[in-house]
Amino acid sequence: MKDKTKLIATGRPHKRPFHPVNPQVERASTYLFPTYDDYLEGGRKIIYGRLGGATHRALEDAVTALEGGFETRLAPSGLQAVNASLLAFVKAGDRILITDSAYDPTRKFCERFLARFGVETVFYDPRIGEKLSELMTPNTKVVFAESPGSLTFEVQDIPALASVAREGGAKLVVDNTWSGGVFMKPLTLGADVVVHAGTKYLSGHSDCLIGTITSADEETAKTIYMALLQIGSNVSADDAYLTLRGMRTLHPRMKAHEQSALLLAKWLAKRPEVECVLHPALKSCPGHAFWKRDFSGASGLFGVILKPVGKAQIKAFFNALRLFGMGFSWGGFESLCIHVHPEKNRSATKWLAEGPVLRFHVGLEDPDDLIADLERAFALMKSTGAS
Ligand SMILES: Cc1ncc(COP(=O)(O)O)c(C=O)c1O
Repeated sequence: MKDKTKLIATGRPHKRPFHPVNPQVERASTYLFPTYDDYLEGGRKIIYGRLGGATHRALEDAVTALEGGFETRLAPSGLQAVNASLLAFVKAGDRILITDSAYDPTRKFCERFLARFGVETVFYDPRIGEKLSELMTPNTKVVFAESPGSLTFEVQDIPALASVAREGGAKLVVDNTWSGGVFMKPLTLGADVVVHAGTKYLSGHSDCLIGTITSADEETAKTIYMALLQIGSNVSADDAYLTLRGMRTLHPRMKAHEQSALLLAKWLAKRPEVECVLHPALKSCPGHAFWKRDFSGASGLFGVILKPVGKAQIKAFFNALRLFGMGFSWGGFESLCIHVHPEKNRSATKWLAEGPVLRFHVGLEDPDDLIADLERAFALMKSTGAS
């Protein structure tokens, strides 16, 4: 089956002869076992509410089908999915290699939390490729990639990282949130684990938080499951339901985000206020060749480096926007634009651009209206004095 069909056909109820199209929201802490033998039997799919019920299993099956993995488990947020997928494989004395372009709270979890338990984190240049081997040590247990990078959009050489990690006996974990699971398949490129902030494209409507962790094989899946079990992770059935509901339209949404974002990125690249557009499908984005090789499309999120302007001008720009909301997160149906500061989240590399960096999420509005919104904001920026 192609992705478009998988997203419709998987995670559906199978009760015959009469059942609803979608799985129901199954709210439960307690599941009752019909007999003593059933109670004793291990290895069943549904045991206790914290470990998920039928609604959770349906979503997990859909994500597993999309990513082409062995098994998916859910987490209550994208951040916890990332954190659990690191925590699962390390103990005191181990080392994790993390891309310098990672989502900042992922960095902080390693620097501030894992460090307290004797786990060392080394950040690497997102463009390192096979030179990652120079950072590998016998105690390196996880290599973490996020492609393209948060805020700065470097596309990583996932197959090269996978082969270095495999050779060194480490797991490669990839945050695949940007591609929505539609435009890149890290497990087929050699990754062991793929995580999503399902909060973004999978759920797609800016109204729930959820994370997914998909493992390539049974042993990896068991390790992830044990980590989630032992930290007491739980996802509400309502959020699992909303996410699966969102996934039914994931494919056409991703195509629409792709089309409009590319149009806006190209329009922005021609604006006199713009220094550079960091959109993986454009040559100006670092790692564009890897995007061309490993991705089948591009989502709605990209960056723009403006030519240097004053604070008052930036303020005027943002206050003029009507369709682009100013808010964290992304991946919903609505467009967003925020002022970001990549220079604050770097240690292995330096962010050298002088002008302000904007992060755009292009939603499902008509792109003509979005362009008109930006035109008005640029005009106000121009008419405002620098300060
Ligand atoms: C790339 C990436 N990974 C993970 C997360 C964390 O997801 P959540 O907000 O669901 O915890 C985010 C959130 O912005 C993200 O952008």
